[in-house]
Amino acid sequence: MSDFDIVVRNGRVATASDEFDADVGIRDGLIAMLGRGLPKGKVDLDARGKLVLPGGVDSHCHIEQKSSTGLMTADDFHSATVSAAFGGTTTVIPFAAQHRGDSLRKVVQDYHACAGPKAVIDYAFHLIVSDPSAEVLDKELPALIAEGYTSFKIYMTYDKLKLEDGQILDVLSTAREHGALVMVHAENNDVIKWLAKRLVDGGLTRPFHHSLAHARIAESEATGRAIALATLLDVPILIVHVSSTDAAATIREARGKGLRIYGETCPQYLFLTAADLDRDGVQGAKYCCSPPPRDAASQESMWLGLTNGTFQVFSSDHAPYRFDSSGKLPKGEATTFKEIANGVPGIELRQALLFSEGVRKGRLSLTEFVALTSTNHAKMYGLHPRKGTIAVGSDADIAIWDPEREVTIAAANLHDNVGYTPYEGRRLVGWPETVVNRGRIVVSEGQLRVQAGSGEFLPCATPASAAPLGRSTPEIERMQKDLAAKGATST
Ligand code: URP
Ligand code: ZN
Ligand code: ZN
Repeated sequence: MSDFDIVVRNGRVATASDEFDADVGIRDGLIAMLGRGLPKGKVDLDARGKLVLPGGVDSHCHIEQKSSTGLMTADDFHSATVSAAFGGTTTVIPFAAQHRGDSLRKVVQDYHACAGPKAVIDYAFHLIVSDPSAEVLDKELPALIAEGYTSFKIYMTYDKLKLEDGQILDVLSTAREHGALVMVHAENNDVIKWLAKRLVDGGLTRPFHHSLAHARIAESEATGRAIALATLLDVPILIVHVSSTDAAATIREARGKGLRIYGETCPQYLFLTAADLDRDGVQGAKYCCSPPPRDAASQESMWLGLTNGTFQVFSSDHAPYRFDSSGKLPKGEATTFKEIANGVPGIELRQALLFSEGVRKGRLSLTEFVALTSTNHAKMYGLHPRKGTIAVGSDADIAIWDPEREVTIAAANLHDNVGYTPYEGRRLVGWPETVVNRGRIVVSEGQLRVQAGSGEFLPCATPASAAPLGRSTPEIERMQKDLAAKGATST
C-alpha cells in the first residue's frame, strides 16, 4: 500500500496548456505525484475513458447576497456551493457587498459568518464598493487588500450602487497603490434610465422591454469610458459580464494597444437572446439580467471572444432569484421590467454548457476550456498555482468528467434553490461525475459526500493581473512631476 490518500488512475489529464495520460497521486489534500502506474492509494478512482480536469473556479457569483433593493438571493452558501460542486467547480469567488453607509470591514465579517458554517467547497471574496468614502479608500480597503481581498467590483449603473466617474478614479487609484484588481459593471446609468422612463411612460413594461432599456450603446459607452478612466491612471481593470459585439470590440481594441484590460463573459450571453425575454406573460423574467442577452450575432461575438483573447474568464454570474413573489416577481403577473430582480442562475451548468457546446462541437480545445473555466480565474485573482491547475504541490482540486455522458437539463435535477433554469430541456454531452476538493471527495455517484462548513476561505495574493503597465499618460506624468516639486503627492 502506498501513502497516497487517493489515486486517480488511467485518466486523460488536461491543464490550460497540456493534455496527457497520467495517474494523479493525492496526499494530504495536495497533488503529490503525476505519472503512469502509480502504486495503489487508500482510495483508487478509476478514470479510464474519462477526463481529469482541474476543479472549476467560478469567479463571479452572487451568494447569500442582499441586493441594493434589499432582496436576498435564493441560494445561501450551502445550496450555492453544493450546486457549484455538482457542476465540477471546487472554488467560488462571490462578493462581500457593501451598501452605502456600510463599513466594509463589517460587511466582510458578515459574509464570513454566513459562508464559514455552510460552504462545502473553497471560497474567496471579492468586495463590492458602493460607498468609496475617505475611510473606505484610505483605511478599510488597504487593510482588506493586505488580508487577501484583492479584487473589488464597482458599478456604473443601478442608482444605489453606481459610482460617478470621479469616484471611479478614486477607487482605481487605491487599487493601483495597494495592488488590487477592479472589476467593472459597465452600463451607462443615464441612458438606461432615460430609455426606461419612456418605455414605462408608454406602457411598455414587459420583461422584453428590459432588453430595450439596457441598450447595447449603454454597455459599449460605459465600457469605453471605464477603459479611458483606467488608462488615465494606468490601472488594469476587468470588464465583467460582457454581452455585446461592440463592448467586446472595445475591449479587444484596448488589448490590441497592449493595455491590461480584461474581459469576462457568461453562459447567458452564449446561450440566450433577447427573444427569451419575450416569452409569454412574465416568463421572460426568468431570463432578465444586466446586461441582457442580445441576439445571435452577439452570441457569435462572445464565442469568438473566448478564443481570440478578448475574454480570459468564463463565469456564471450566478444571481439566483426564485420565479415568484419572493424573487423575480414582487408583484406577480403585474411586475414591470423595472421591478424584476436582475440575474440568472448558472453556477451548476456553467462548465457543462461550455464543454458540450464548446469542446464537443469543436469551438474550443480542451485546454482552452480549462483556461477559461478554471486556470485563468485563479491567475486573475491571485489563487494560482494553489488553485486552477493539476500540478505537483497544487491543491488536489479535480473534476473527473465523462465526456460522453448525455444529460437533459432539468431544474429538478439541479442542486440550487432557484426552482427553474434558463436552460431547461437542453441536451448536453459531457458531465463532471466525481469532484475532489483539497483531496476530499465532494461529489461521487450523484451524492454529496462532505459536510456543510468543510469548505475553506482562501485569502488571495495581489495578482500579477493587477500590476500597472508603468505607462502614464502625459498629463498624469506632468501633474505628478509638478506636485512632487511642490512636495505634494497624488495618484
Ligand atoms: O443581472 C445581473 N447580472 N445581476 C447580478 C448582479 C450583477 O450586476 O452582476
Ligand atoms: Zn454586474
Ligand atoms: Zn454579477
